[in-house]
Amino acid sequence: MAVAPLLLIFLLTIVASTSAAPPSHFISHLPGFSGSFPSNHYSGYITVDEEHEKNLFYYFVTSEGNPAEDPVVLWMNGGPGCSSFDGFVYENGPFNFEAGNTSGTLPVLHLNPYSWSKVSSVIYLDSPAGTGLSYSLDHSDYITGDIKTAADSHKFLLKWFELYPEFTDNPFYISGESYAGVYIPTLAAEVVKGIKEGAKPVINFKGYLIGNGVTDMDIDANSFVSFAHGMGLIPEDLYVEVHSVCEGKYYKNDNVTCQEKVAQVRLDLKDLNKYHILEPCFHSPEQQEAEFVNSQLPSSFRKLGETERPLQVRKRMFGRAWPLNLPVQEGRVPTWPELSRSLPCTSDEIASSWLNNQAVRSAIHAETINITGPWELYTAKIDFTHDTGSMIEYHKNFTIQGYRALIYSGDHDMCIPFTGTEAWTRSLGYKTIDKWRPWFYNDQVAGYIRGYDHNLTFMTVKGSGHAVPEYKPKEALAFYSRWREELRSSILSYGEQERKNEPSFYYIIIIILK
Ligand SMILES: *[C@@H]1O[C@H](CO)[C@@H](O)[C@H](O)[C@H]1NC(C)=O
Ligand SMILES: *[C@@H]1O[C@H](CO)[C@@H](O)[C@H](O)[C@H]1NC(C)=O
Ligand SMILES: *[C@@H]1O[C@H](CO)[C@@H](O)[C@H](O)[C@H]1NC(C)=O
Ligand SMILES: *[C@@H]1O[C@H](CO)[C@@H](O)[C@H](O)[C@H]1NC(C)=O
Ligand SMILES: *[C@@H]1O[C@H](CO)[C@@H](O)[C@H](O)[C@H]1NC(C)=O
Repeated sequence: MAVAPLLLIFLLTIVASTSAAPPSHFISHLPGFSGSFPSNHYSGYITVDEEHEKNLFYYFVTSEGNPAEDPVVLWMNGGPGCSSFDGFVYENGPFNFEAGNTSGTLPVLHLNPYSWSKVSSVIYLDSPAGTGLSYSLDHSDYITGDIKTAADSHKFLLKWFELYPEFTDNPFYISGESYAGVYIPTLAAEVVKGIKEGAKPVINFKGYLIGNGVTDMDIDANSFVSFAHGMGLIPEDLYVEVHSVCEGKYYKNDNVTCQEKVAQVRLDLKDLNKYHILEPCFHSPEQQEAEFVNSQLPSSFRKLGETERPLQVRKRMFGRAWPLNLPVQEGRVPTWPELSRSLPCTSDEIASSWLNNQAVRSAIHAETINITGPWELYTAKIDFTHDTGSMIEYHKNFTIQGYRALIYSGDHDMCIPFTGTEAWTRSLGYKTIDKWRPWFYNDQVAGYIRGYDHNLTFMTVKGSGHAVPEYKPKEALAFYSRWREELRSSILSYGEQERKNEPSFYYIIIIILK
């Protein structure tokens, strides 16, 4: 009989070591969702500064595949000031949100067949404090920048892996888009430094994925002219003139003739939805200007226009974004109200109604509105300084050390056009390992890909705007899964399996080279 207590202790030990996830963060139900969860979901706060009560909110979706082995991937939206619930609700999250029939009713949640949780565990993080559901009781923390944000996110990660020790051996990646093009390399630098300095727990960090990411002021700011030309948005003669008079430098060029030509280009582009040039804006440009001109954002952008889509999705907006003539530059990043500009082509009603509902907040262990303030897709509450400059040096350091980087571009985004992203990836000067070629989804060309030495890959997603998983969910899950698979084979095989009948020429070449 003495065996029984021992056996019990033994069993308890097993239970403890295999499911260490914090029970208080476990999500048992979600308002609007009546099905059963395809995998475990957790969410809650992790304190990164006890004294200030600076708490970062995360939502963790375990893999619907094999959570014990699948990678753990951190997802971050940009802004600065955008909540990562942007990604959760509108992009690669586990649910599709159907708007309620009458205003004020909660959305209905359906499972998203293209969730990135199909093949990986995903952590959605609201960072820095002040963004989304994250907050600090000391509001001086809302004055922040790249360096402080990266340090806090690193603290978050170390504490997160302490809470979830069963995931420390899984490959870990960081992903995101837009201004996360700055968050990701700066956080990666902190993580790598931590590993070198023996920070515990040791994060099994492998690499990152960045979509339409802010990278380098000069390159990003000069990329829109070649984009506009290639897309047929400006005439050939204007392109030839602007190119020759500005000598390729369209931003902050003192030459008056150049400025006039650039102004002409901007005039041609100004009414387009800059996050996806093929998509409509919610409002006609004139109407939008009139409605928003004196507004204090962000409350104003809750007003909706119409969309022809069957499931109402937001027409893409980008928080503290960069209108064409105001790219991200070093120093303080201005807010939309400060620019007295409207947020173009956007709605975030579904996410706002859900995340500001008290029953939803209780279910996901989020603080009440009187603590965090209302959830906003993008907040003007933080005062943010871009204090790290160009990311090119970060990318070099990172890839040289053997980490993997996938840099992808929705090729119809005019916010961070692929022309700039293609240029900076090429500028690293790495040898091409896999020649520029199409990649396939369902036997159709889904975009183009080029593989460089040092595990750097540049890829376009054909017909997609700024937020790739939102516009092209199937293709996004396809390339994401394949990239993940390459953990096991280092061959860049995007889409090759879908061309079974053709001899795979590059595939063979690569094997020979290896
Ligand atoms: C809206 O109403 C229709 C018809 O009654 C119903 O089928 C649908 O589920 C409702 N949608 C939501 C989000 O409540
Ligand atoms: C602008 O640049 C063009 C081409 O280099 C040059 O011909 C022209 O004189 C410049 N104009 C001014 C005002 O500097
Ligand atoms: C915040 O709101 C909750 C419920 O709405 C209430 O119980 C709590 O006392 C409030 N806290 C403060 C600090 O006002
Ligand atoms: C890149 O690495 C070098 C050498 O380790 C280091 O001096 C430099 O600060 C790093 N730069 C960035 C941007 O991480
Ligand atoms: C590419 O990544 C793989 C897998 O992480 C690694 O084994 C390999 O050393 C990397 N290659 C280079 C050239 O860095």
